[in-house]
Amino acid sequence: MQIFSELQALRQCIAAWRAAGQTIAFVPTMGNLHEGHASLIERARERGDKVVVSIYVNPLQFGLNEDWSKYPRTLEEDCAILRAKGVDALFTPTDAIMYPRGRENQTIVEVPALSNILCGASRPGHFRGVATVVAKLFNLVQPDIAVFGEKDFQQLMVIRQMVADLSVPVEIVGAETKRAEDGLALSSRNGYLTPEERAQAPVIYRALSQCAEALKSGERDFARLEEQANLMIEKVGLKPDYFKIRHGKDLHEPRAGDSYFVILAAAFLGRARLIDNVQVWI
Ligand code: PAJ
Repeated sequence: MQIFSELQALRQCIAAWRAAGQTIAFVPTMGNLHEGHASLIERARERGDKVVVSIYVNPLQFGLNEDWSKYPRTLEEDCAILRAKGVDALFTPTDAIMYPRGRENQTIVEVPALSNILCGASRPGHFRGVATVVAKLFNLVQPDIAVFGEKDFQQLMVIRQMVADLSVPVEIVGAETKRAEDGLALSSRNGYLTPEERAQAPVIYRALSQCAEALKSGERDFARLEEQANLMIEKVGLKPDYFKIRHGKDLHEPRAGDSYFVILAAAFLGRARLIDNVQVWI
């Protein structure tokens, strides 16, 4: 695996692959890799001749009181996983490449509507930071396809809209959420949990699954289902941020006649803010 932290060498490598007619599949990450990331790499491998992964803990998508400085940075372990997965190139850009004029003076990408609801309401500026870094990474790597996890459902939608609105020539592929045996969605932030908190955390997926079953069996009192789920999560000791049933295509408020829903949840537990979601097709 080749490792690049400077732009010129990365560009040369990618240009050579392109000249040889090879397609490039890209998986952007913030590192601290786990089986969820590994499954994205497998999807990328199926779709591209060359697989490029990036690791960059993007300061632009963290709020001032959030965990940017404490976010786990585990480059050596990550490299071992990437090599085992047969990744062709790792891109670890410097801040100077990503934000040459500093964060404050960076040109930004703002995806309207989708960015200010749910996680965007709790984390102002978060999706602006995500859209900006992903747009920039796409321009640096110039992939044919890019793989993102459904674990971050709203993020996937923001990126799909950004790519459509700006006519970015990259195909976006969504990959399903990888979970621990007890249902907890794998996440780098699970590492913040104490053993006791780790035992509490699967209630989020249990509440999502219960709500999904209720929708499948015809229940349509959305507010009541959301309230029940919040109570269930609270009872176990988590602090719910939101629990919302939304239309699966656009995250609009759901209607009784809809046939595709997504249920999204976020909750605070100890040092972590955990998110998860489940899609429901009727
Ligand atoms: P990060 O949290 O490292 O996640 C990188 C990718 O892995 C994202 O597409 C995310 O949805 C996916 N992922 C995380 N946990 C997963 C799981 N349990 N199952 C399947 N996929 C999972 O998301 C980011 O980084 C950043 O916002 C980024 C897109 C890199 C921009 O900075």
